[in-house]
Amino acid sequence: MIKIFPEIEELNNFAAELFVEIANDAINSERDSFTVALAGGSTPKGLYQLLATDKYENKIDWSKAFFFFGDERHVPPDNAESNFRMADENLFEPLKISKKNIFRWITEEKYAEIVADDYESWIWKFFTDKGLHTEEDGDNEPSFDLILLGMGADGHTASLFPFTEALHETDKIATENYVEKLDTTRLTLTFPVINNARNVMFLVAGEEKAETLKQVLEGEFQPDKFPSQNVKPKNGNLFWLVDEKAASFLKKK
Ligand code: 6PG
Repeated sequence: MIKIFPEIEELNNFAAELFVEIANDAINSERDSFTVALAGGSTPKGLYQLLATDKYENKIDWSKAFFFFGDERHVPPDNAESNFRMADENLFEPLKISKKNIFRWITEEKYAEIVADDYESWIWKFFTDKGLHTEEDGDNEPSFDLILLGMGADGHTASLFPFTEALHETDKIATENYVEKLDTTRLTLTFPVINNARNVMFLVAGEEKAETLKQVLEGEFQPDKFPSQNVKPKNGNLFWLVDEKAASFLKKK
């Protein structure tokens, strides 16, 4: 589903309502919990700030919400580049989310592959211990109730950048990913776990995304060049929430 909004404010209002709906569906289900992987970058900041306002702070039982991150930069958690820090300042701190409910990538670890391996184990342990992944699930990946994603102007999502190794990772759910153009190693969830989510929500805004969004949504399937095209939930719902600037080249309105 693609929804186009005149301005980022309307997009964030819709996203907040949808976030609350998904969260309460999950909490009211037999899972009695809501698992969400947050997006980094700057676009989601407005949504996090909105969720922390008095309009939304009482709409979810936050004690039953468990926060993960779709990707992270390999920097300390208090670094300005840290996706955790952005969420902490704009969502966790204002809502007084318990640290027990927050699962960040432990980026203090020097080696990125160890950060990724540890995060993978931590995710599996959480889902297994809480009974959110059982024998019946077989070798399916853990299923997050919601994965928030952004899309870069180059078509990347999470830290799955064009022509990088992690695009083809099919076994691990969390991995390190060397990004040549940034000359840095990022940390990211992989497509198998993203595509096993019950809901995936893209937040895309700004005219600098327009050409790429047209390619991703209406162009030829070139997932190495436009990794966001590989987000195709097996059974889950896919929401593209975009503003008019980013949607300006789309044929279908
Ligand atoms: C990150 C994000 C990344 C982001 C896109 C879009 O760590 O940077 O996870 O995938 O979603 O780069 O970023 P904006 O939404 O800020 O344009």
